[in-house]
Amino acid sequence: MAMWFPGDKATLCKGGHDMICRVCKAKCVQFLDLGKQPIANNFLTKAQFKDELFYDLTIYYCPECLTCQVGKIPKMSEVFNDGYSFYTGTSEYMTRHFEDLALLIKDRYTPADPEHRPVIVEIGANDGTFLQHFSQDRPLGHWLTMGFEPSGSVAKVAKERGVRICETPFEKCEFPGIGNWPKTDVIVSANTFAHIPDRLGVLKNIKKILAADGVWINEEPYLGKLIERFAFDQFYNEHVFYTSITSMIRTLSMFDLYIDSLEFIETHGGSIRYFIKHGAEDTGGSLAYVIRSLSLTFEMYPEDRLMTFGDLVQTRITTLQNEIRNVRGPIIGYGAPAKMSTITNACGFGPDVIKKVYDTTPSKIGKFSPGSHIPVVSYDGFKKDRTKNVFLFIWNHKEEVMKKEAGSKRNWITPVINM
Ligand code: TYD
Ligand code: ZN
Repeated sequence: MAMWFPGDKATLCKGGHDMICRVCKAKCVQFLDLGKQPIANNFLTKAQFKDELFYDLTIYYCPECLTCQVGKIPKMSEVFNDGYSFYTGTSEYMTRHFEDLALLIKDRYTPADPEHRPVIVEIGANDGTFLQHFSQDRPLGHWLTMGFEPSGSVAKVAKERGVRICETPFEKCEFPGIGNWPKTDVIVSANTFAHIPDRLGVLKNIKKILAADGVWINEEPYLGKLIERFAFDQFYNEHVFYTSITSMIRTLSMFDLYIDSLEFIETHGGSIRYFIKHGAEDTGGSLAYVIRSLSLTFEMYPEDRLMTFGDLVQTRITTLQNEIRNVRGPIIGYGAPAKMSTITNACGFGPDVIKKVYDTTPSKIGKFSPGSHIPVVSYDGFKKDRTKNVFLFIWNHKEEVMKKEAGSKRNWITPVINM
């Protein structure tokens, strides 16, 4: 284990010790309570209001492996099913992002031996936006691919795009049971590893299928950025884990895996792309340097920082409520991401505060936001709507949105700071 983290666990306990870490089984400490929350991507019809499910959104950290994680979560099948409404392909930015990732893989990992047919797996393939680059009629079509995607709604779109999909959750698959699945050269998980409560199941299967010299590329929001931006709307049931580099090192070392390199990327409001391989942790090398250079962040003093952060989020919620109260004139919303669920429910913003929200996803249009029941309307009407105040729920796509809306005179309200 890395040893550069001082901190007195005993004096920092705020919440109960009633939760066991999903990674290392130690007792966790609660640092944030965001109250009753609905299932974040569950946009619903009026008729469904009466049966809506709520859970307590509490966030914990583990003093042993330092993994942050949500407390109770709904059953996976209540989240990832035929009604799942997040389609990667709806964002041009993410579409380009995955095209670039496919090119990176082609450049770095095409085997030198032309006889070797490379193998790639994606965990949480969504609508196939990434793996479509490896489908048969494409330049990377010689790769053998498999996308794991348990949400029927998005898996259907992936299949229509010619992507091979297994609808059994990756962590539940018996390897090599699936058609004697061969050793895999590249495994990709982008904003999915952090979504799967059975983290150990995922790691066990990665360990089984990753080739001896293979690489697992894992992208996920970086907890350090979330804290810096006060992006507490990133906390919701689908995001089970929030990792620091240190917690990732500790988790991987339990499976004899290590971070070979990493890069900071802009997606989802500030993420990390980890390149992970079989073997032991490099405690003295470049990674240790990266972590030390982040000494002012919670990587250095995770426990103090997290406890303070919990309090600051509560203050931030009050500030946001006051800011919104002081806005002159009506307010509309832009983009209906899962994140809007946390923010509107934590702040108590319903349709009386934010009249409606414009979004491009067909399956959300005509429905209402989870818990707060703000109507979701088609983006097509946005330009004609002269409402000045616009709450930018998709602040993580700010650049793309500002480009698209250049010239329109709006008062944009962004819920996060330090952008
Ligand atoms: P995103 O922040 O990517 O996802 P998450 O749900 O994980 O927080 O939000 C995606 C939603 O925003 C999706 O419903 C599509 C919508 N959207 C727009 O309406 N307009 C846009 O310009 C973009 C980029 C997204
Ligand atoms: Zn732990």
